Amino acid sequence: MNYKIGSLNDVKKYIVFFGYEDNSANLAQYDDSLSIEKLNKFIELKEWKWKKEASASYIDVETGQEVMLCGLGKKDKLTKVILRQAMAKLTAAIAKVKAEDIYVVIPEFEDKELKVAYIEALIDGLESVEYDFIKYKEKKKDDKEDEKKDKNVNLLNWDLCEHFLNECVYVAKAKSITKNLVNEPANVMTPQKLADTTKALGEEFGFKVDVYDENYIQEKKMESYWSVAMGSDLMPRLIVCKYMGNPDNKEDIIALVGKGLTYDSGGYAIKTASGMATMKSDMGGSAAVIGAITAIARMKLKVNVVCVVAACENMISGRAYRNGDIIGSMAGKHIEVLNTDAEGRLTLIDAVTYAVREMKATKVVDIATLTGAALVALGSTRTAVVSNNDEFFAELEDASEQANEKIWRLPHDKEYKDLLKSDIADLKNIGGRYAGTITAGLFIGEFVEEKPWLHLDIAGTSWNDKKGSTGHGAKLLYHLVKNTEK
Ligand code: BES
Ligand code: MN
Ligand code: ZN
Repeated sequence: MNYKIGSLNDVKKYIVFFGYEDNSANLAQYDDSLSIEKLNKFIELKEWKWKKEASASYIDVETGQEVMLCGLGKKDKLTKVILRQAMAKLTAAIAKVKAEDIYVVIPEFEDKELKVAYIEALIDGLESVEYDFIKYKEKKKDDKEDEKKDKNVNLLNWDLCEHFLNECVYVAKAKSITKNLVNEPANVMTPQKLADTTKALGEEFGFKVDVYDENYIQEKKMESYWSVAMGSDLMPRLIVCKYMGNPDNKEDIIALVGKGLTYDSGGYAIKTASGMATMKSDMGGSAAVIGAITAIARMKLKVNVVCVVAACENMISGRAYRNGDIIGSMAGKHIEVLNTDAEGRLTLIDAVTYAVREMKATKVVDIATLTGAALVALGSTRTAVVSNNDEFFAELEDASEQANEKIWRLPHDKEYKDLLKSDIADLKNIGGRYAGTITAGLFIGEFVEEKPWLHLDIAGTSWNDKKGSTGHGAKLLYHLVKNTEK
């Protein structure tokens, strides 16, 4: 979809109006080129009341103009939740419209925050309904291509800055980038392919991308990462993105570290067939950070961001690591590997150390499809969070509100950390049967070197068995980074 700030003088083929139950839509301001008279007749005839979640549409036979009405309910009862529900219905309806040009009349809002949420939800919704991943379906692809001409969405009655429209569009597109990265199967989206794709995105949107191979990874003593990676015939790639939007303030560098397992078979602690079937999505964290940095760079935010992705596969072979191995790490700590399926944290700790020591990160966010336990605890509704810093977490809460991606903070008492103690090494890679999401998070927390840190476990929120990738994380990280802008 293309988005434009439209004017009333344009041709109006398909137009959407919003209105409130108590004072109806403020239609008087539009001239009769919009057939306001007819619209009012329709409203009268149908006893149309602009009730919450109600919608109706009609076609003007004379002009061929299609009109859709969308109720928002009582003005003083309007909330973001109501708006988002209305938007979900509306965007689904717009997706079915044949017209190439669509005009949406932005309603009046008393509260600017609601207006922002409205436009955000509209554009996010339109991008989402348009998104599909059918490139491997030959027939359906042809059918869809015919009906899917690029639509122009013209926003009327726009009185915000254009900058904000760009932001909504770039962030919504970032989410689609994330979805595309995740939905590609593991035989296509290999570590090398993930690196190449990131590089291309960097060139397109203006951030630097460096890719390092298995030799570099071993030279840097990233033994924990390398232990996971070396079982596969596909070699790992360390992907490092850099965007310095605030070069005068190099003391503030936020690291976004994304889990980049392009496939997780479980290794020798092998998964079941069904458990393995969706494990192409185990790079959802890396896809989120890559999506986020595209929007950060396009919006030219005044922030310094590095993304670190330790991309690899967790496979089985004569070279693969074993349950019972003791491995080193870039930070120097030794880890007793009691379960090769708890591999994500092993790749993440070296990525975190790399971010802190090599990239000089002053704040660390890691995001990962880390534990099935996150699904057990919170289902697919909320992302689990572990953090060592209340202020940083408060910024994430704001971002969560802005991005409409829900989070829930888990505790981090010392008792949980004690579960990771090993008799023969510095740490075990699993904390036992209980509190799996917390212990996994705290394992990574052992490597952040006292930096303010957020750990986001998106195992439950990033994947939907019916729809594939949800794109979760990209928007959340964008808004989090934006909130640190100075
Ligand atoms: N990638 C999985 C976590 C996962 C499971 C994500 C289901 C999405 C859906 C992770 O590497 C894993 O296997 N975790 C283990 C940890 C356990 C061995 C401590 C798990 O959750 O079972
Ligand atoms: Mn695993
Ligand atoms: Zn995994």
